[in-house]
Amino acid sequence: MGKHRCLLLKNITQPNQHTLAGYESRGGYSVIKKVLGMDPAKVLEEVKTSGLRGRGGAGFSTGMKWSFIPKNTGKPVYIINNADESEPGTFKDRVLLERDPHQVIEGMLIAAWAVQSNWSCTYIRGEYGFPYSRIQAAVDEAYAKGYLGENIFGSGFTHHMVVHRGAGAYICGEETGLLESLEGNKGQPRLKPPYFPATMGLYMCPTVVNNTETLAALVWILENGGKAYSEIGVGKSTGTKLISASGHINKPGVYEIELGYPLLQFIEEECGGIRGGKKLKGVIPGGSSFPVLRADELAGVTMDYESLAKAGSGMGSGGFMVMDETTDMVQAALNVAHFYAHESCGQCTPCREGGHWIEKIFKRISHGNGLVGDVQLVESICNQVAGHTICAFGEALSWPAQGFIRKFPEEFKEQIGDALVGIRKRKEALNFEHEGAH
Ligand SMILES: Cc1cc2nc3c(=O)[nH]c(=O)nc-3n(C[C@H](O)[C@H](O)[C@H](O)COP(=O)(O)O)c2cc1C
Repeated sequence: MGKHRCLLLKNITQPNQHTLAGYESRGGYSVIKKVLGMDPAKVLEEVKTSGLRGRGGAGFSTGMKWSFIPKNTGKPVYIINNADESEPGTFKDRVLLERDPHQVIEGMLIAAWAVQSNWSCTYIRGEYGFPYSRIQAAVDEAYAKGYLGENIFGSGFTHHMVVHRGAGAYICGEETGLLESLEGNKGQPRLKPPYFPATMGLYMCPTVVNNTETLAALVWILENGGKAYSEIGVGKSTGTKLISASGHINKPGVYEIELGYPLLQFIEEECGGIRGGKKLKGVIPGGSSFPVLRADELAGVTMDYESLAKAGSGMGSGGFMVMDETTDMVQAALNVAHFYAHESCGQCTPCREGGHWIEKIFKRISHGNGLVGDVQLVESICNQVAGHTICAFGEALSWPAQGFIRKFPEEFKEQIGDALVGIRKRKEALNFEHEGAH
């Protein structure tokens, strides 16, 4: 346990890995050929045995999700590759799409056979121009060679695949917002229940939505068996995880680690330590929607679903953001709050309004106009947003704000400073406005 381990990224630096010829020269598409000869129920069983959990953020069991797909409904079954990758600090699906797109396609075909789906779609964020061109070119090549379309690999199985570009909205990464967008509507999430994608997904048909990394991991799992995968990692966090490491480290980049890697060791050994010999102040381990952790609470924390949750944050999408001692945590909180205020789809009032309130409060604190009670006010707004919205955006907006104020209260207190100064400044500003009105 606790090491750099390459299952998904093993070939990404090989020449022409993004082409069909390059991919096949290293054994590509051999797994799907084998899988098409297996009973779909056995494929599902292997995925369940592997313990694979969704890599898009929620960490839900992939095998369990597939088992919710009803059989013989007479409706088409859809597979969606969620390549929206919009969570700030996350840029790992991009590497797979750019460098090894056929691995993603092969993973999608494995999923398709398991749930007997004849149609799939990669939904990719609009800003991902180059990754889009790579995955589209790979789909075209696969069609040209007969690996997509009718009777693939002579198996009698038909599978069609398209690539769809989003227009750049974070909310279209939320699975039901994505489905709405794909249907040509505003990307506003659907109520769950009743609209669980497994039963009422795309065009109200059974649909599997999986993250790009989750789908790519299927190739190794079906090649080596679910048991072999389950033996990698720790406890219920099996396998490897791609980590997008950024911030004040010497070697930012995408790393593949075995789950259970000690967090501080990861910073030192993979990320090359903190830039400029500075001291570590905090880490957001799972992407911007997860709470920040203080440096002094990281001893013994390992990078897996359970340990990070126990520490008060989460694995999320693996957007690992490192902050050194020079970081102004009020500014960091404002930066994150600005993103969520901007990206709310506006459907639910608590999220639409609350996000802007939180941003405004952090802004006034950072401008020296904070008021006594502002921190409590942010806490109260967060409590009224999280759990009160149609989708988990409410949590994504609240958790980081709560993380910053709870973990670094002294910084907020310091910047709010003397309450009377703040009030005097506000009074002066109001008087100025009042006089200006005359
Ligand atoms: C606001 C919001 C944004 C999300 N953005 C993404 C995203 O960009 N990519 C992704 O794979 N999942 C995203 N998710 C999670 C998806 O809703 C869904 O859980 C995931 O695609 C399922 O795939 P998985 O089980 O393989 O992780 C987001 C969720 C929320 C609430």
